[in-house]
Amino acid sequence: MGFHSLFWSIILISYISFGTSTTQKFQNFTTSPSDLKALTDFSSCLESVILDWNSSTYPDCCTWSGVTCVGPKVVRLELGSTGLVGKISASLAGLDQLRVLNLSHNFFTGSLPHNLFHLQNLEVMDFGNNHLEGPINTAICSSLPRLQVFKLSNNFFSGKIPENLGNCSSLKYLSIKGNDFSGSIPVSIFELQYLSVLHLQNNKLSGPLTEEVGKLSNLVDFDISNDEFSGILPNIFVGLTKLEFFSAESNRFTGELPASLVNSPSLHMLDLRNNSLSGSLNLNCSAMQNLTYISVSSNQFRCPTAGLWNCSRLDAIDLSFMNLNCESSFNFKNLQSLTQLSLSNASMHNLSGTLKILSHCRNLGTVFLSMNFHNEEMPQPPPEGQDLEFSNLKVFVLGNSQIEGSFPAWLRGCKMLQMLDLSRNHLTGSIPSWIGKFNNLYYLDLTNNSFTGHIPQSLTMLLSLQHKNFSLEGTPFAFPLYAYGSGNNTFKRTITYKKVSSFRPSLLLSYNKLEGPIWPGFGNLKGLHGMDLKHNSLSGPIPWQLSSMTMLEILDLSHNKLSGEIPQSLVDLSFLSSFDVSYSQLHGEIPTKGQFDTFPPTSFEGNKDLYHGSISDSSFTPSPPHVTRSPPHHEKLEIIGFPFWFGGVAGFFITIAMCFASGWVFS
Ligand SMILES: *[C@@H]1O[C@H](CO)[C@@H](O)[C@H](O)[C@H]1NC(C)=O
Ligand SMILES: *[C@@H]1O[C@H](CO)[C@@H](O)[C@H](O)[C@H]1NC(C)=O
Ligand SMILES: *[C@@H]1O[C@H](CO)[C@@H](O)[C@H](O)[C@H]1NC(C)=O
Ligand SMILES: *[C@@H]1O[C@H](CO)[C@@H](O)[C@H](O)[C@H]1NC(C)=O
Ligand SMILES: *[C@@H]1O[C@H](CO)[C@@H](O)[C@H](O)[C@H]1NC(C)=O
Ligand SMILES: *[C@@H]1O[C@H](CO)[C@@H](O)[C@H](O)[C@H]1NC(C)=O
Ligand SMILES: *[C@@H]1O[C@H](CO)[C@@H](O)[C@H](O)[C@H]1NC(C)=O
Ligand SMILES: *[C@@H]1O[C@H](CO)[C@@H](O)[C@H](O)[C@H]1NC(C)=O
Ligand SMILES: *[C@@H]1O[C@H](CO)[C@@H](O)[C@H](O)[C@H]1NC(C)=O
Ligand SMILES: *[C@@H]1O[C@H](CO)[C@@H](O)[C@H](O)[C@H]1NC(C)=O
Ligand SMILES: *[C@@H]1O[C@H](CO)[C@@H](O)[C@H](O)[C@H]1NC(C)=O
Ligand SMILES: *[C@@H]1O[C@H](CO)[C@@H](O)[C@H](O)[C@H]1NC(C)=O
Repeated sequence: MGFHSLFWSIILISYISFGTSTTQKFQNFTTSPSDLKALTDFSSCLESVILDWNSSTYPDCCTWSGVTCVGPKVVRLELGSTGLVGKISASLAGLDQLRVLNLSHNFFTGSLPHNLFHLQNLEVMDFGNNHLEGPINTAICSSLPRLQVFKLSNNFFSGKIPENLGNCSSLKYLSIKGNDFSGSIPVSIFELQYLSVLHLQNNKLSGPLTEEVGKLSNLVDFDISNDEFSGILPNIFVGLTKLEFFSAESNRFTGELPASLVNSPSLHMLDLRNNSLSGSLNLNCSAMQNLTYISVSSNQFRCPTAGLWNCSRLDAIDLSFMNLNCESSFNFKNLQSLTQLSLSNASMHNLSGTLKILSHCRNLGTVFLSMNFHNEEMPQPPPEGQDLEFSNLKVFVLGNSQIEGSFPAWLRGCKMLQMLDLSRNHLTGSIPSWIGKFNNLYYLDLTNNSFTGHIPQSLTMLLSLQHKNFSLEGTPFAFPLYAYGSGNNTFKRTITYKKVSSFRPSLLLSYNKLEGPIWPGFGNLKGLHGMDLKHNSLSGPIPWQLSSMTMLEILDLSHNKLSGEIPQSLVDLSFLSSFDVSYSQLHGEIPTKGQFDTFPPTSFEGNKDLYHGSISDSSFTPSPPHVTRSPPHHEKLEIIGFPFWFGGVAGFFITIAMCFASGWVFS
């Protein structure tokens, strides 16, 4: 549980417990007959059973699970995450003293019964994460004066947000995220003076953001991401003195950042990525003392002004996918708290100068620099070049930049390295053997360079891959990166967002000039999920020991000079879903059984003499010898990418915002 959700839990618990403290189960009260009837009618509308809700076995419904009474009256009905299926019965409106109604995280369908909105004592209504649908009654807040928490998140509700919501005057927490609501935000909402959480993200809400938002002086968390809002961001943040989290990513906002936003003292997290905002990025960190996360990627901002370099508490910044066009190098020296930085595709130049400056940020753990510095030379340590020290570096991504030179020797000191992507450059020379000494390395992508020599045997010793010990702790970020389309040679690229910790352990060395053997020791790497060595000049046999890589899902050895037979042991790889040994010099019988029965003929084509074995022992339909004994027919192999084969990893995005969008923190 993050700080954030903890914070809200405390708030929720603190006022809900007002109810609890006076709530005891007096067994000698008989439950109010009307409440008993409301509950039994509710339960008879369900298609699922709540085990102890049985009035013949337990006549007092106050003892039923999820039910809390004060005296004979039901005051709380909390059935979240209980697997309930069916419709919500209008009979619940009979629970006239109900304060808390929580039916979230179930499988309820249909619409919300209108008469629930007459339960005047309701303080909490949570219908989140169901399959409810339809418009919301326009009179919803006519008689809910005490409602403080109202959650409809992640359902299929549609239509406009009712204007009348403004009459739920006690509302503190309103979430309608993840539905199909359209239209604009009704102005009445801005009259909700206690509102501190407003989650409107992942709908189809549109229109401008009006100045009235500035009236919500208690707003702490405001999320309108992934909607269709447009126009400028109004200059209203001066009134939002408590605002800590603001996400408006993936809308159609234009214009410059308002002065009150870039001077907000309370803001912790700002996510404006993927809009059409422009102007200079003039964050004034002398004022924004609490700013820790900021993503403004995929906009049209110009180079950040000097005010940014005073953001001494800044933890993560994403400036990727923008033509920043900074004349001189960035001055990151003061950003001593910075742990994560993305500058992918930001028109950066001077790689050695940039790295030199970044090396002053002692806490940097994650650095994304792809698609910049085109055709520059990879800096090297003395005697040829400068010394670079990144003692906390965990993730270093510099792909797709046509960088020349050799493998960066300064990385040798980065003992914490977990993920390294230097793919799609023009690096030459050998892959150094010290790379096998990184105890935490679990993802290595050197695809599409010109590396020569052997695959370092030390890679068979990578500790984290031997012990399946790889979690990128403490990095709550998802990264925008290019996923290369698979199964299609058009090489379509799309940006997707992924957390670094969700990268599957991989060794990706394809499209180089590597030669020599595939080491039998790779069998040690019991944690490896993907191994791609295609398009090299590797020779020798496929070691039977590879069958010890028990987690392996993808093995591509195609377009090499491998000889011998396909080891029968590989049928033991029970997770193997993609296997390719085409275009080598293999011969002999293709194993059957296990996953091998699922691989297409293209996985084996273009070899010397590779054939499908006779399937006589299990077959009822004996095939003519000339079919079973000849190599499979030749189709051109066009599978270019793996399902999870990512290259040119391109930036990052702040997950806190993602969490809001996906219900990861709050729901
Ligand atoms: C019954 O309720 C009364 C208060 O209404 C209480 O004093 C008494 O102890 C209760 N008896 C039992 C057995 O719970
Ligand atoms: C309630 O319990 C009785 C006795 O155990 C049982 O016969 C009956 O089927 C139960 N009713 C429901 C609805 O589960
Ligand atoms: C409703 O119940 C779920 C548990 O199933 C819980 O996670 C959620 O926080 C509850 N809602 C409120 C508003 O307390
Ligand atoms: C709802 O609020 C509006 C003003 O926002 C007010 O005119 C109206 O009387 C209120 N209705 C009820 C039922 O409280
Ligand atoms: C960017 O925003 C547009 C809508 O404005 C959306 O369709 C698109 O998916 C978003 N892209 C990403 C990568 O989030
Ligand atoms: C900044 O954050 C600190 C600690 O989280 C908090 O005490 C302080 O009030 C915040 N400042 C502003 C202006 O919100
Ligand atoms: C930046 O913030 C400081 C402190 O609040 C303030 O004194 C200064 O005027 C601001 N600078 C600009 C350019 O707004
Ligand atoms: C950075 O902060 C220092 C001290 O607070 C201040 O003197 C300086 O003007 C600030 N620089 C910018 C560019 O805001
Ligand atoms: C990278 O940046 C350049 C210049 O800003 C832009 O033209 C190009 O479209 C960007 N590439 C991608 C994939 O966003
Ligand atoms: C690159 O940056 C470094 C340090 O900022 C500077 O000394 C060097 O002159 C720059 N090189 C080029 C080609 O601009
Ligand atoms: C390798 O990189 C070059 C550019 O550096 C690109 O043109 C080519 O398509 C890439 N090939 C593969 C297979 O990724
Ligand atoms: C490859 O992609 C193109 C364009 O996206 C599409 O027209 C074509 O049908 C695709 N081919 C396959 C084999 O999926």
